[in-house]
Amino acid sequence: MLKTDKVTIKFGGLTAVNEVSVHIKPNQITGLIGPNGAGKTTFFNCISGVYTPNSGKVMFQGKEIQGSKPYQINKLGITRTYQNINLFRKMTVQENVLVGMHSRLKSNYLTDMFHIPSQQREEKEAYAKAYEWLKFVGLEPYAKDQTGSLSYGKQRLLEIVRGLASDPKLILLDEPAAGMNSQEKLELDELLQRILKLGVTILMVEHDMKLVMNVCHEIYVLAEGKLLAHGTPEEVQNNPDVITAYLGGE
Ligand SMILES: Nc1ncnc2c1ncn2[C@@H]1O[C@H](COP(=O)(O)OP(=O)(O)OP(=O)(O)O)[C@@H](O)[C@H]1O
Ligand SMILES: [Mg+2]
Repeated sequence: MLKTDKVTIKFGGLTAVNEVSVHIKPNQITGLIGPNGAGKTTFFNCISGVYTPNSGKVMFQGKEIQGSKPYQINKLGITRTYQNINLFRKMTVQENVLVGMHSRLKSNYLTDMFHIPSQQREEKEAYAKAYEWLKFVGLEPYAKDQTGSLSYGKQRLLEIVRGLASDPKLILLDEPAAGMNSQEKLELDELLQRILKLGVTILMVEHDMKLVMNVCHEIYVLAEGKLLAHGTPEEVQNNPDVITAYLGGE
């Protein structure tokens, strides 16, 4: 589904991502783990078009996408969430989902301007669809609430569902469990399975090892910008290099 070939990005003297090659297979959950500052978020930024790598290729369904703009990459079928939640806090919960759906709606600024019937119909349908999406993550009781009033864990769910509403083939989740309580983490585990059933492939950065080891089919480990290990959860857990990277030497 997604392949990277020696993706490298530098910030001044720092090589934040250093020749990272991964192969994300369809219909499974792939984990991307590593200590703080390893380059995980920067790697996501290279895939989603926030950054253009200095060298290397990003291939999505056989097509090179490095250097494309984020909206173009989203149109091709990749969506993402952000480590530091990135929602419109003053909008309602439902409106945030509508924003996610926007790339799939037909209306353009002309029909917006005249508010023609076909657009009114589309708008009504879009609200209904957004409500259905909220049900998918159990947020429909909050549809009309201001987004900023939601708990941290619920905002994380909203970000995920806003991404799903753009009808992606691949979703990149940057620390979805951060700030969630233990009950919410259990529900997240189950939600990830339902996302897979929608036919959406998942690439997930996550520090919660219990969740990672539970849900991931395959894991890549980054440390100081470089790929350190790759394998099944069991292989990665027992890899001495990985243990050293996390525990620092001993
Ligand atoms: N725009 C930028 N300019 C300069 N340095 C950057 C920039 N973005 C990231 N970095 C640096 O690149 C390195 C990797 O950062 P990144 O945020 O990708 O790490 P991470 O693996 O996501 O860490 P964490 O687990 O803490 O989220 C860090 O040293 C960071 O300071
Ligand atoms: Mg990060």
